Amino acid sequence: MKKVLVTYDMFREGFKELEGKYDVVFPEGRDFTYEEVWKMIPEFDVLCSMFDFPVNKELLDRAEKLELVSNYAVGYNNIDVAYALQKGVTVTNTPNPVTDPTADIALALMLDTARRVTECDRKLRTLGNRMKIGVLENLGLPLTGKTLGIIGMGRIGKALCKRARACGMEVIYHNRRQLCIEEETKWNVTYVSMDELLVQSDFVSLNAPYTPETHHLIGENELKRMKKTAILINTARGPLIDEHALIQALKEGVIYGAGLDMFEFDNRPLPGLLELDNVVLTPHIGTQTLETRIEMAETVCRNVIGFYENTYPVYKVLHP
Ligand code: GLV
Repeated sequence: MKKVLVTYDMFREGFKELEGKYDVVFPEGRDFTYEEVWKMIPEFDVLCSMFDFPVNKELLDRAEKLELVSNYAVGYNNIDVAYALQKGVTVTNTPNPVTDPTADIALALMLDTARRVTECDRKLRTLGNRMKIGVLENLGLPLTGKTLGIIGMGRIGKALCKRARACGMEVIYHNRRQLCIEEETKWNVTYVSMDELLVQSDFVSLNAPYTPETHHLIGENELKRMKKTAILINTARGPLIDEHALIQALKEGVIYGAGLDMFEFDNRPLPGLLELDNVVLTPHIGTQTLETRIEMAETVCRNVIGFYENTYPVYKVLHP
């Protein structure tokens, strides 16, 4: 029986399909630490890792029997994919279940930041009757008629595009590769350079993977290229943005606001962000629904079953 090590505590419901056919080890009531996994890994054929669990060279070198890393996420920047592939270890991810929920949170952050929903909620609670209420108070920005610039036109970018169109927005995009003409027509999107996107967009949404090339994709210079009325949304990975530069830009009114579900340092916002009213912060809840959690676990399992039994499609990561 193949041995499967799951690094994280998760509803067992999603793992049902492995029962009886695979020898699965789960942590109980908490996640395994890196040190615990380090000790156990030599015995295992499969590692099911969470998106923030480091599957690095030293762990891969110690994992003598390892054949598969089945990651619980669409992103795989936690894994040294190049080294895994070099060692003949297959890496898989969970693209489908995360698409719609992540696009939902991107849209939620766009609406919330533009219409100042959380800010007003916070002020009502903290200021009570001292909060100024009136037809000219708390003015926000509309979505209708505005331009959304999507950086990274993969599955999530396209799902966000669909939502933005429903809100009456125009959509432009920048991507590593331009979509084919059929796809551009289907999604009704226009390809532009990164600089054109920054200059033309009222909302900029980051939906690109985190790689050494996309580190600080948005820094001081890029923020300065954006409109003063623009809103920056990040539901992808924190280090795509230079967070110090963003705080400065938000303070100085270089852009209007930001909606962030991911942060540059340890998944926690820098204190400077907490002091600002023109930013909406969520703690990486892009895929945080019960249904999605279970579906992602099912995909993790089916990647294992498909890999060994050829009965399900396997979502392989083909390059770093
Ligand atoms: C979540 O962050 C994911 O990559 O699926």
